[in-house]
Amino acid sequence: MLRPGEVIHDGGWAQVGRLLDDTGQPFIRKVGKYLLDGDGLAVLDFLAALEAEPHPNLLAPLAFSGAPGAVLVEDYPDLSGRRRLDQIAFELRNGLSRGDLALERVLDLVVRIAGAAAHVHRLGFVHQDVRPTNVFVHEDDGRLVPTLFDYTFVVRPFFLVEGRLFANLETPPEARVGYVSLDARYDVYQLGWLLRSLTHYEAGMDIWRPLTALPEGLGEVIACALGPLPDRFPDGGAVVEALSMRP
Ligand SMILES: Nc1ncnc2c1ncn2[C@@H]1O[C@H](COP(=O)(O)OP(=O)(O)OP(=O)(O)O)[C@@H](O)[C@H]1O
Ligand SMILES: [Mg+2]
Repeated sequence: MLRPGEVIHDGGWAQVGRLLDDTGQPFIRKVGKYLLDGDGLAVLDFLAALEAEPHPNLLAPLAFSGAPGAVLVEDYPDLSGRRRLDQIAFELRNGLSRGDLALERVLDLVVRIAGAAAHVHRLGFVHQDVRPTNVFVHEDDGRLVPTLFDYTFVVRPFFLVEGRLFANLETPPEARVGYVSLDARYDVYQLGWLLRSLTHYEAGMDIWRPLTALPEGLGEVIACALGPLPDRFPDGGAVVEALSMRP
């Protein structure tokens, strides 16, 4: 569906390309590699809900199409001028450890990413891919402003029976085991991972040391987000609240 010259990213789940509209303006088209069926159809409801209720830190589609047995096609504004969080994380971490980036700016960024996830949760969905590779960041009025995107794995909460073989470091441990509710707490775990990775370095296997002096409550927020499922914050909104209430 995308022509070879248009493709800017060819992933396992989708191709992403840059096209021109009727007026010659570029836009981004993402074309799925799998036919939509079953639980995967929830992404259509999510995109419709997001169109109806956009959020300042979630990338909203310009248009989308999909149906049972067809692939998902999504059009988005072209954000190629922005860098992704995984591309600037090194700079942010360096800035924190050298002391020339205020911790508050990074925490403000994470609060907004948590706010974006909270909106997904309020709409009744789980993002399942809240990782730095899926967040664009731009500066506005001295603030670091995130835009969360990539809705490939959006689902409604469900009961996960079989543990998943495909996992990365940011996959919550319970998803590997299975027989567990997969809900907003999946994204909470990923938010915890993201927050810890921006503010800590790994001194040894799973030994995390702060890059700069951190307020006391922050360690507890990270521990709760990354903690066992029953103790974890229930959703992104609770993470926003916990981060905003820090002393
Ligand atoms: N709106 C956009 N503007 C500019 N570049 C984009 C946009 N959307 C996606 N991209 C580029 O395409 C890459 C892949 O997009 P995306 O994360 O949506 O798909 P993906 O990671 O392949 O999805 P999957 O999780 O299914 O593998 C992004 O990392 C980004 O570089
Ligand atoms: Mg992605």
